[in-house]
Amino acid sequence: MQLITGISELVTNAASAEGTDESSTSTHSTTEVGQLNVITDAAIIIDGERVAWSGPAAEADAALARLGSGSGDAADTIAENVETIDLGGKAVIPGFVDSHNHLIFAGDRSAEFAARMAGEKYSAGGIATTVAATRAASDEELEANLVHLLDQARRQGTTTFEIKTGYGLTRDDEIRALHIINRHTEESTLIAAHVVPPEYKENPEAYVDLVIDEIIPAAAGRAKWIDVFCEKGAFDEDQTRRIVEAGKAAGMKPRLHANQLTDGGALQLGAELGCISVDHATFASDEDLAALAAAGTVVTLLPGVEFSTRQPYPDARRYLAAGVTLAIASDCNPGSCFTNSLPFCIALAVRDMHFTVDQAVWAATAGGALALQRTDVGHLGAGARADFVVLDAPSYRHLSYRPGVHLVERVVAGGELVADNRPRL
Ligand code: NIG
Ligand code: FE
Repeated sequence: MQLITGISELVTNAASAEGTDESSTSTHSTTEVGQLNVITDAAIIIDGERVAWSGPAAEADAALARLGSGSGDAADTIAENVETIDLGGKAVIPGFVDSHNHLIFAGDRSAEFAARMAGEKYSAGGIATTVAATRAASDEELEANLVHLLDQARRQGTTTFEIKTGYGLTRDDEIRALHIINRHTEESTLIAAHVVPPEYKENPEAYVDLVIDEIIPAAAGRAKWIDVFCEKGAFDEDQTRRIVEAGKAAGMKPRLHANQLTDGGALQLGAELGCISVDHATFASDEDLAALAAAGTVVTLLPGVEFSTRQPYPDARRYLAAGVTLAIASDCNPGSCFTNSLPFCIALAVRDMHFTVDQAVWAATAGGALALQRTDVGHLGAGARADFVVLDAPSYRHLSYRPGVHLVERVVAGGELVADNRPRL
């Protein structure tokens, strides 16, 4: 066991602001929407991959004794087996849950980004450039690129990753992407309906049939999620409905890329289809928001996309006032947004989407977990996975107060130190 003390602020996102103790509950604790639950002068006890207890430092000894009595060992044996780490006054938050990523790709589109910054508009068509480069790449190249991006993101505090296919767009290329994804995360998403590939340009319906009749059956059991880019220039609402229904019938859970570029009916369709999350939602009417709130669909906002495409930022205050639960994710991809930094996305969300600091930190941790239907991550109550970030700062507020500064000092995932950004001799 490890006892971590010297935590100036511990963001638990756990349902109770008091100490949480596994021995007092039959299952692990849960989160309450929007509640950060910050404990000042806190401690946390880790047992293997899990949080055994978190709470005020003054109560840590009593918690250790309780946990020890449950194990049947004498108190002095417990004390000998506890490693104590004193952080000396740093903030600790749950690891970021990045619920939207396109990380299986090859090639570079920095010229497209530069052209956008010089006035060009983003369009779905750029995806085809990455499709050509991805098809031409070897499995080893694709996996090496993925590993590199995951490592970068971990160093910035991300401990849970969703990863999508979508740059293969043939049965074999989509399935090989899933094979690679399955080696790195359980949050695997099939988005064969990303765009219509060039070879089906004259007959998009034939591609929709291929997705339904061949790609989805081959992906069953390998993809947890089915996703569609429902947008002008990609897939219309009727095609989206058919593809999502086929994915659901094959055991996948639904999520959508919806209303990224235009204010079509994709958000209400997402609510109707029982999507766990609809992502982007850059454009949303009051009716869209009411339908999503009623359906309990999470809306995942992607501030890096608005930043990188110069689109207008949606106003989080409107979405929250409508009763919608918000998550924040990076959408790391080579086209519309090539950042994998959740601290950067949090800073943007606060500054430009009008999240409060607390709402943004919650949305990038507990919100991401809800968007992936995960109860074991995104919080630090007893029973949660021991996934957390030590900040080189006294308060979690510094994440947006000090934009662009590397505040992620250490990252622990499943009780293991997976990134350490402290300077070394
Ligand atoms: O989430 N919108 C669709 N897919 C990605 C962009 C993909 C690309 O431009 O390569 C997105 O923004
Ligand atoms: Fe995306």
